[in-house]
Amino acid sequence: MQSNAKLFAYNLGGVVPLDQAFLHISDLSIQRGYGVFDFVKVHGNTPLFLDDYLDRFLSSAQQMELQLPLSREELKHTIFLLVQKNGLEVSGLKMILTGGYSDDGFTPVAPNLLITQHPLTLPTQSKVENGIKIITHDYVREIPTAKTINYSMGIRLISQIKAKGAEEVLYHRQGIVSEFPRCNFFIVRQDNTVVTPAENVLPGVTRKRVLEIAGRRYRAEQAKVTLEDIAQAKEAFLTSTTKRVLPIVQVDDTIIGTGKPGDVSLALLQDLIALEEEQVSVAKV
Ligand SMILES: Cc1ncc(COP(=O)(O)O)c(C=O)c1O
Repeated sequence: MQSNAKLFAYNLGGVVPLDQAFLHISDLSIQRGYGVFDFVKVHGNTPLFLDDYLDRFLSSAQQMELQLPLSREELKHTIFLLVQKNGLEVSGLKMILTGGYSDDGFTPVAPNLLITQHPLTLPTQSKVENGIKIITHDYVREIPTAKTINYSMGIRLISQIKAKGAEEVLYHRQGIVSEFPRCNFFIVRQDNTVVTPAENVLPGVTRKRVLEIAGRRYRAEQAKVTLEDIAQAKEAFLTSTTKRVLPIVQVDDTIIGTGKPGDVSLALLQDLIALEEEQVSVAKV
């Protein structure tokens, strides 16, 4: 594996060594926290489910009225170029589109595009085997369907999460749950129906895949999920690009199901890993 010193990034039109990738202080991401991004997992030279991430990146940009300086095809080409050049085993690739260099520190002019790639660590086996504890917090992101760079609430809650011996915080609005700062949420009802909140969520790529694979074995749906539903659930888990399917065994003071990761969650994790491996082998053909 390469050290960070040898990595390359795409920075405002060109591929440069990572330590030479910079933004000027006039950028609206710095001045006003204005920008969008997306994050793709890469196995070897294969960015997994790339088209889904590109769709979401373009949708986030559109929702924030930011014009991408590259066409979708040019962006894809640049990603493959960078992935080849960096040659990492398992990595995360981040595309960031900012408000750009603004004359008055407020009005967007020409958005800036940066792409970075770093080695990625997946959740430890012990976290998967034991499951995690989470807490809840009443909050909805400003534009839940867009992946903006504003994670202020999630970051402010880190100390509360730690103080309560938890790993993550689940957002809800008056008892109707939505998502985590960086993950989607699922419950498994007593009849094995797999449910994920329908509203006020980022359309997670892992969420989409898990809904698909869950639908092969069980009933799977997007629906309203309340804190009360969680208390009645047989299992709960979160999904994200980096965490895949991670079982949840405690929500605030409530133990979920048996207090151990459930069979449905673990089966979905195995199915997701198989789907990822399938992507890598298809890309090699
Ligand atoms: C707010 C939010 N919800 C959910 C997710 C999970 O999405 P994905 O599965 O595409 O990683 C993310 C990813 O970072 C996120 O930022």
